[in-house]
Amino acid sequence: MRPATEHALLEVSALSVTLGSKTSATTILKEVSFTLERGRTLGIVGESGCGKSMTALALMGLLPEEATMSGRLVFDGMDLTTLSTRQWQTVRGPRIAMIFQEPMTALNPVMTVGRQLAEMLLVHEGASSARARSHAIELLERVGIADPHSRVDAYPHQLSGGMRQRVMIAMALACKPDLLIADEPTTALDVSIEAQILDLLLELQQQEGMALLLISHNLAVISEMADDMLVMYAGEVVERGPLQQVLSQPRHPYTQGLMASIPSMKHARKVLPTIAGTVPNLKSRPRGCAFAPRCEQAQERCRTETIALRAVDAQHCVACVLA
Ligand SMILES: Nc1ncnc2c1ncn2[C@@H]1O[C@H](COP(=O)(O)OP(=O)(O)O)[C@@H](O)[C@H]1O
Ligand SMILES: [Mg+2]
Repeated sequence: MRPATEHALLEVSALSVTLGSKTSATTILKEVSFTLERGRTLGIVGESGCGKSMTALALMGLLPEEATMSGRLVFDGMDLTTLSTRQWQTVRGPRIAMIFQEPMTALNPVMTVGRQLAEMLLVHEGASSARARSHAIELLERVGIADPHSRVDAYPHQLSGGMRQRVMIAMALACKPDLLIADEPTTALDVSIEAQILDLLLELQQQEGMALLLISHNLAVISEMADDMLVMYAGEVVERGPLQQVLSQPRHPYTQGLMASIPSMKHARKVLPTIAGTVPNLKSRPRGCAFAPRCEQAQERCRTETIALRAVDAQHCVACVLA
């Protein structure tokens, strides 16, 4: 057991991000807070445009140049918001790694996957090139790529989407990160391949003991993988807590709406309801609760009051006046 006083691996406090000039700034993230313990999985869920990827990019120090950020991002006791470019090189990759939805955009198309893996190892581990190549083959084998001795010399386009994602996972694992951020890692894949990749992620997480920040618009994926979950809407956290607790007692109407649209979940109806309407344009964020315009339970005060995230149980927080 780790002593209770020891800090979480990751503590995000009141992370806000705006884009655009001072006169026409758009708030993309608004006071996002959460913690992630070592070896645990936190799932972030929300529809497209809710700020999930922006949260991940902030954690990687990769926000767009025009972005302004405030809040604290403390990783293993280190404030990420103060790191220099040089310091980032010792964190991004070796300590915090990320895999993306479309591996083709993250892989170099004119370099074999073996060389890309080997370069990673050469840069971060200082391995010899012969050793790096054999390590690259081992890594390909570990992520379930059949015939790694020949696949190591393949170019990304010669591999299937599922295999490319396995290569990305191998690259992320190469430096044994403490935290792996997976942003929609299976959204571009067939459902049958999706299950394999998710299984692989869980298996590797257990073997390596790394923490996983899993981002998906699909609550079904999060519900199978995560220990804790965080629901985002329009750049804000609307609900957060231990997975089973949130799923058994979803308190925010948005979370309830996401759950109702999953066929296999409890309370699901035959005809899947979707939440009517769309995520608001963040340039003109509604007053009060951003979800109120789509919420069937909304009352007058939802459109006027400032809604804060508050605890409804020890670790379960909700931003809804009705909860
Ligand atoms: N480079 C960018 N410039 C301007 N706006 C952006 C940029 N990237 C994302 N956004 C906006 O930020 C919001 C959050 O986007 P994102 O984090 O990608 O959402 P998600 O990953 O949940 O789909 C969206 O409104 C999106 O339009
Ligand atoms: Mg995204």
